[in-house]
Amino acid sequence: MDRRTFSKMLAGLMTGSALPTHLQAKTPLGDQVSFLKALEEKPWLLGYLGTRETELHANLHIVSGRVPSDLRGHFLRNGPAQHNLGPDRFAHWFDAPGMVQRFTFADNKVTHHGRLVETARNVTETKAGRIQFLGFGTHGHDLTSGGSADGQNTGNISLINHAGELLALWEGGSPHIINPETLKTEGRKSWSAETQGLPFGAHPRVDKDGSMWNLGYSVNPAALILYHISADGQLLQTHVIPQTATPMIHDFMITATKIVIVAPPYTSSNTTDKSFIDLFEWRSDKPTQVLVIDKADLTNVSQIEFDPFWVFHFGNAYDIGTSEIGFDLALHDDPGFMTKDAFAVMDGSWDGAASAASRYVQARINLKSKTVSLDKAPEFGQVEFIQTDDRENLSSHRHALMLAQPGSASVFGFNRLVLVDRNTGNASSFDVSETEMLEEHLIIPKPGNERAFWIIGTALDWQKGKTSLSIYDGMHLSDGPIMKAEMDLALPLGLHGTFIQAAGG
Ligand SMILES: [Fe+2]
Repeated sequence: MDRRTFSKMLAGLMTGSALPTHLQAKTPLGDQVSFLKALEEKPWLLGYLGTRETELHANLHIVSGRVPSDLRGHFLRNGPAQHNLGPDRFAHWFDAPGMVQRFTFADNKVTHHGRLVETARNVTETKAGRIQFLGFGTHGHDLTSGGSADGQNTGNISLINHAGELLALWEGGSPHIINPETLKTEGRKSWSAETQGLPFGAHPRVDKDGSMWNLGYSVNPAALILYHISADGQLLQTHVIPQTATPMIHDFMITATKIVIVAPPYTSSNTTDKSFIDLFEWRSDKPTQVLVIDKADLTNVSQIEFDPFWVFHFGNAYDIGTSEIGFDLALHDDPGFMTKDAFAVMDGSWDGAASAASRYVQARINLKSKTVSLDKAPEFGQVEFIQTDDRENLSSHRHALMLAQPGSASVFGFNRLVLVDRNTGNASSFDVSETEMLEEHLIIPKPGNERAFWIIGTALDWQKGKTSLSIYDGMHLSDGPIMKAEMDLALPLGLHGTFIQAAGG
């Protein structure tokens, strides 16, 4: 990208134009009273109550099994946590200040520490005890974006450990550097003066050589931004793809040779409206666009159109010869989860029916015929948070792990772990109890064994009021956890995590 384009983009963002600043509408905040009343009737809403603490130290009691002695390191999770500030409540599940929850495995034991991601916004609003700024789906009292994209940054979506730094990521602003030992936030991450403050998405992809690709999207100016950062943390390349109407794009994929961007027809018309989500409109009459970009020449782009669908997350992607790409995704019919359900759990009105189906899909892009084929697996029910084994990154992966909700539950959450063997078509699964809601689980390679892995993740038991942490043997998922530990508190349901192997572990 040339310097002028960059400067123009930066100027747009720094004046806060990513969100409108002069709004007349009544402030739509959440409602603590309605939520607490609903919580009495629907105790599973505990997962969306939130914490008022900025730091948490919970006791973990092992209730079954033991921590494997060769499992050593930090399992870290991020997610919106402080759903209430003073008398205010965020209206949307994605809005609250992020909190990192760290579970440390060492010497057959596991310990916990949680701490607020100290973005400028989170520190200001937590101290003030009020929701001040515009957010993803909530209007703060001041109806202002805070002066820049980072003025709204809650750092609450995901984490990545790259080039020796642990980064807390958000959708539309800068990553924040987190000290993995103290969980203290050590400032915003910037790779260059030119890219400082530009949107940097929550789902970077790590290449075979350890370099990291990422995507950001900007509403005003309307553009997609690609980043390529070396394994040692140097900015190698940036590339801007101008848009006429910016699509909301939460995740993307890379293969050994390509970058794949899927742009659903949920686009910003950039009108003066209320919150970020209100800038976007679902256009079911428009196609989902698939952009396939040559890594070696970012200006070489193939474009394929497909019937409209929405997607938050992809699994692994890989080249099949030179003209096909295979990948997994959780395909949603439309963005109803985000535009309806994620509001309804925050005011407690969610009534037990998902707004949109989300299905596990094995997909193929054919670049010669310019077609996309989708092999849907409706038998698993609602699915999300698809994971693969990092050792199979960018190759035709054998396993896909996901959370599922077969459809019988009346709570807003997942209660089944499913591991699909893509080679055989078989799946193994494990159901947690009816009073538990699963959070994202990760595949953790077992040291010294090329194929074996653990599955690690958390769940909230809303009846007990406790979050638990479980370890499963990946080859024997249906046998249940080989270790389960319960905390003496209920953590807010979060989003994404990562695992940092202990040195020598
Ligand atoms: Fe995500």
